[in-house]
Amino acid sequence: MDNQNFRDLDNKVALITGAQRGVGLATAIRLARGGAKVVMADLPNVDIASAAATVAQHGEVSHHGVDIADEASVKDLIAFTLDTYGRLDILDNNAARQGLREDVDVLSMEQAVWDSVFAVNARGTMLMCKHGITAMSQSGGGSIINISSGTALAGNLYQTAYACTKGAINTLTKYIATQYASVGIRCNALALGLIETEKLKESLPQEMRDLYTSYKLIPRLGKPEDIAEMVAFLGSDRTPWITGQIYGVDGGFFAKAPQVTGEVKMMQDMQLSVGGE
Ligand SMILES: NC(=O)c1ccc[n+]([C@@H]2O[C@H](COP(=O)([O-])OP(=O)(O)OC[C@H]3O[C@@H](n4cnc5c(N)ncnc54)[C@H](O)[C@@H]3O)[C@@H](O)[C@H]2O)c1
Repeated sequence: MDNQNFRDLDNKVALITGAQRGVGLATAIRLARGGAKVVMADLPNVDIASAAATVAQHGEVSHHGVDIADEASVKDLIAFTLDTYGRLDILDNNAARQGLREDVDVLSMEQAVWDSVFAVNARGTMLMCKHGITAMSQSGGGSIINISSGTALAGNLYQTAYACTKGAINTLTKYIATQYASVGIRCNALALGLIETEKLKESLPQEMRDLYTSYKLIPRLGKPEDIAEMVAFLGSDRTPWITGQIYGVDGGFFAKAPQVTGEVKMMQDMQLSVGGE
């Protein structure tokens, strides 16, 4: 997908958390290409400057350290954004604490693990919204995109804390949409399927990749650019009537009923049409 000349975000100021790599970095590139001035934020101890140099090849960008779990740090990031660009139009709440080995089933859950994941993903996203809304409302409103996950939409055997934080983000999205529509703020969430970031490419065995792919209606894993495109769409002026929604961006993973073993054979025996035949 080449959006090199697709300037749908001219005159917008966008703030992306967790922008140093993966989905956040791809989103920074897409928003900069679209004409937005982009503030890339990530934890103070990561090399956000190198990532920002990459994005600078595509448009105007600044960067700033933040720990979204810490309210003072969030306030400082919003102040930096306003000092640098004078306004905030798009807030992409992308940062997350994920993939912890200790984040398992409920009986094995350590309180400290639960709390640390909630501190970043749930509290952090709420704090970013809180201070982002204050900034956005000063210039007539804006669009918040909260990055959620399909893990919040159905049960699983592991990553309980992470999935529950994404459930909290889905609910927060509807509350913010409800509470701040009157000041011109839209808020939507994206429930991502498995995205093939560089990190995932290194760690996902081929067998697992094949298994996940086999469940997608569109038979591939997601690309960071798939998500970046949705963020650009929801952040743009093309979606003024869309708020309070949770969009699955997952290759159709949750659109299809699970097929139990033998079901296809049974349907064929009943002479029903299977898979479009
Ligand atoms: N990759 C996937 O398959 C997938 C699937 C579903 C949902 N998601 C969601 O998409 C988003 C991006 O995923 P990714 O795979 O690119 O993530 P990633 O783990 O590669 O990057 C997350 C970024 O967030 C930053 N971060 C972590 N804690 C932070 C904090 N306290 N303050 C500021 N920054 C912090 C990290 O430093 C990192 O740069 C996340 O919200 C994730 O939950 C990803």
